[in-house]
Amino acid sequence: MSAVDDSPIVLPDDPSFGWEVQVDYPGYRSTLWRAPQRPLVTMPEELHDLAGPVYGDETVSPLDADLTRQHEGEPIGERIVVHGRVLDEDGRPIPNTLVEVWQANSAGRYKHYVDQHPAPLDPNFSGAGRCLTDSEGRYRFTSILPGPYPWRNHHNAWRPAHIHFSIFGRLFTQRLVTQMYFPGDPLFAYDPIMNSIRDPESRKLLIARFDIDSTTPEWALGYEWDIVLGRGGRGATPFEEDGR
Ligand SMILES: [Fe+2]
Repeated sequence: MSAVDDSPIVLPDDPSFGWEVQVDYPGYRSTLWRAPQRPLVTMPEELHDLAGPVYGDETVSPLDADLTRQHEGEPIGERIVVHGRVLDEDGRPIPNTLVEVWQANSAGRYKHYVDQHPAPLDPNFSGAGRCLTDSEGRYRFTSILPGPYPWRNHHNAWRPAHIHFSIFGRLFTQRLVTQMYFPGDPLFAYDPIMNSIRDPESRKLLIARFDIDSTTPEWALGYEWDIVLGRGGRGATPFEEDGR
């Protein structure tokens, strides 16, 4: 794949320099504890040289991309299809890269011991999936619409409905983590996580587009969302600081 740039992402010494996301955003309380206080440490050179991750055909099953078929019954909620492409900054597709997702159920509850808020768990929904992009950089998941949930960051704090995404780039050191949102959510203006992205135009890059073409009659609503792996430039999908 000669067209692919395999150079490692270079991190700046100043933690806040050049990044779209304010890593110590006061409105998002826990960032004050985990934002870097010192210059970043450069990863050992030998990690940059690892030509991976590499996933065999048997490692990732096509069923892993369908979060509605992981249990005996179907999960409760509005069935959705989320699809798009993983691209580099020049619009070139990134094929065969691992895309992982995790999300709350339709009631806004994670299947995780830390999440104890009084909404029901769904025995037919675990909320995690993965797939590899195809030769054109495309990914596709079937799931249910996640619900908003309270998160105690401040008084009356509710997260907009979202799906967490992790994307491996071309090297082990290039795992990137972000969140995808759904269009028209009334909670956007109140969400410190979304608003820790400095540029309002960049925030929009995290919002999927309702897609009638992938909406399936009598079955599921479709959403399209492209992910642009960049170095913090305009047009690149903003990523969380711990996923850089
Ligand atoms: Fe979440």
